[in-house]
Amino acid sequence: MLSKAYHSISKWKNYKATPLLSLDTLNQNLNFNKIFYKDESKRFHLKSFKALGGAFAVEKISKGKKNIIISSATAGNHGRSVAWGAKRLDLKCKIFVSQYVSKTRVHEIEKFGAEVIRVKGNYEDSLKECKKQSKKNNWKIVQDVSTKDYKYIPQLTMAGYSIMIKEISKQTNHYITHIFVQAGVGGLAAGVVAGVAKYFKRIPKIIVVEPDRADCVLQSVKANKLKKIKIKKESIMGGMSCNEMSLIPWQILKKTSNYCVSISDKNVSKTVAMLKDKKLSKTSIIGGECATPGIIALVALSNNIKVRKLLGLDKNSNILLIGCEGNADIKLYKQLLSRGRK
Ligand SMILES: Cc1ncc(COP(=O)(O)O)c(C=O)c1O
Repeated sequence: MLSKAYHSISKWKNYKATPLLSLDTLNQNLNFNKIFYKDESKRFHLKSFKALGGAFAVEKISKGKKNIIISSATAGNHGRSVAWGAKRLDLKCKIFVSQYVSKTRVHEIEKFGAEVIRVKGNYEDSLKECKKQSKKNNWKIVQDVSTKDYKYIPQLTMAGYSIMIKEISKQTNHYITHIFVQAGVGGLAAGVVAGVAKYFKRIPKIIVVEPDRADCVLQSVKANKLKKIKIKKESIMGGMSCNEMSLIPWQILKKTSNYCVSISDKNVSKTVAMLKDKKLSKTSIIGGECATPGIIALVALSNNIKVRKLLGLDKNSNILLIGCEGNADIKLYKQLLSRGRK
C-alpha cells in the first residue's frame, strides 16, 4: 500500500517533495549534529501534510467512477484534503463540521467546491451526522479515524502520509536518530512509523508529542489499552485536540513509539513567531500551531541533562521534526504571530 501511495501521489499535477530544512540557529544552542524540519506548509498549496492522506483515499475508493458522492467529518485539515481530492477528480463532496470549526477553515473547504454542513456539538456529533446522512444517501465516507469495523480507508490516509518519509530518505544521507512526531488521533505518527520501517535503513527513536489538554496517546500507553479522555478545554493546536486514538495507530504506536511527551499551549505562539522571524533557522518558515510541538518538546527535553541522556540525545544526533502545517488557518496564524512577537 505504501509503494502504491507514492506511485499515485508522485504523479499528481504539481507534485514536488516538500523542503527538508535545517534548524541550524536552534542547533547552535542545543548542540546536536542536525535538526531537520520537514516543511509541509508547501504541500500542494494545501499547507498541510493532510493533503497526502484524504485525497489519496478519495482517489483509491472512487476507482475512476464519476457518479459517486464523497463525504467526511472533520476538524479542518482532513476535510480540506478530502474536498480537494474530490475536486481533483470532479466528484461531489459533502463535509460535516462541528460548531467549533472556524469560519476560515470552512471557507478553505468551500473553496474546493464542497458543500459544508454545520452540526451542533463537537467533532463526534459531526461524525454521527455524517454517517447518518451518508447511509441514507449512499455517499462514500472518507474518514481518517479507524475503528474495529472501519479500517481500510484510514489505512489509505496513513499510507499517503508515509511519502514524507520516502522523500526524506532521498533528501539526506544522514541517518535520522530521533523523530519527534505530533499526534491527534495518531494517524500521522503511525504513517511516519510505517514509512520509517519501509524507507529508512536504521530505525530512529520515536517520540510522540501531544497537547497536555488532549493526551490520549500518553494515557493509552500508561493504561496499556485504548483510553478515551475528557477534554476540559480545547488546545490551541486544534488539529491535535482529540480525545481518543484511532485503532490502527494505537496498534502500531503501542509497539513502536519509544516515548510520549505532552506539552502545554504556552509556547505555541512564541514558536510560531520564532519560525517566521528566523530565530531558529537562516530562512523564514511559516509554521502553524500544529507545526510547533516537536520544537517545543525538543527544547524542553534538551534542557534537562538526565532526559538528554535517557533519550540518547547528543552531538551525534540527527533529529527530525515534522512541520506538519503552515498557515492553514490564516486568521489564527496572524493572531499567534502577533501574540508570539510580544
Ligand atoms: C495540522 C495537523 N497536525 C497534526 C495532526 C494530528 O494528526 P493525527 O490526528 O493523524 O494524529 C492533525 C490532525 O488533524 C493536523 O491537522
